[in-house]
Amino acid sequence: MRVLITQQIPEAGIQMIVDQGWEVTLGEQGRVMQREALLEKARGKDGILCLLHDRVDRELIDCAEGVRVFSNFAVGFNNIDLDACREKGIRVTNTPGVLTDATADLAWSLLLGAARRLSEADAFVRSGRFTGWGPTMLLGADVTGRTLGIIGAGRIGRAVAERASGFRMRLLVHGRPGSSPNPDWTEKLGAEWVDLPALLEGSDFVSIHCPYTPATHHLLGEKESRRMKPGAILINTARGPVVDEKALVAALKEGVIGAAGLDVYEEEPRLAPGLADLPNTVLLPHLGSATVGTREAMARLAAENLIAVLKGQEPPCAVV
Ligand code: GLV
Repeated sequence: MRVLITQQIPEAGIQMIVDQGWEVTLGEQGRVMQREALLEKARGKDGILCLLHDRVDRELIDCAEGVRVFSNFAVGFNNIDLDACREKGIRVTNTPGVLTDATADLAWSLLLGAARRLSEADAFVRSGRFTGWGPTMLLGADVTGRTLGIIGAGRIGRAVAERASGFRMRLLVHGRPGSSPNPDWTEKLGAEWVDLPALLEGSDFVSIHCPYTPATHHLLGEKESRRMKPGAILINTARGPVVDEKALVAALKEGVIGAAGLDVYEEEPRLAPGLADLPNTVLLPHLGSATVGTREAMARLAAENLIAVLKGQEPPCAVV
């Protein structure tokens, strides 16, 4: 078998594939494979282990004639044209579960960081402006006892909700339109199931955990930010285009909302004009699952998925 891994992933996953005696073509460490190279290297492969920035569209699928699986090294799979894969009988897999806690932890890091103005405070100290303690210096937002609104009631949304109990927060949850509350955990945590307007109007913090689909494109735009409480803080660790980033920059600039903690961007890795200049933001380079243990688990699971398909077995995490 011939396998392409589009960028260096933790060794354990690569080794699992090499151990099959298969030929592995490996992308570079820390460098996104450029489109032309991807189209070229996809030729003649039986399986491709791809990353969330690799656009798996009809053009790539045509180049990768004979490919049997796209094993995505991510839980999200909005980078993959599922219909095109279905039509060609190509399997698609992802890596859910293993990254839930790391991503929820990062959402909380952003929430606390944005509330307590950590990026401003860090820059303040580094620039030598910390010349003495002051009672009104860099005051942030209270977290304990406030209301957290969670958009997306899947694994990560739940893990973020669970972490809120130590902060004695009221929880509002909004799931997919038409879906019903998940009594399993919403009841247990005392979370209220609400529609999006109610969540936006009632929350001091709004954290996004839904997948990116045509239905969630710009779910949060100008109208929605105006519904949010003045001073509210928006956290996005899901996918950039769920938020209209231009409208967010305007809302943050005009003080329509208080702050934002972002790990993902609409046109990643590019930022909307003006975003990087806003002091009331904490901006991270898509680090949700970026812990040593989590990335190793993702590498193993992505390899397991790929190997299963190429051996004619059902993969542990099939999308298609
Ligand atoms: C990361 O964003 C993922 O989808 O795993």
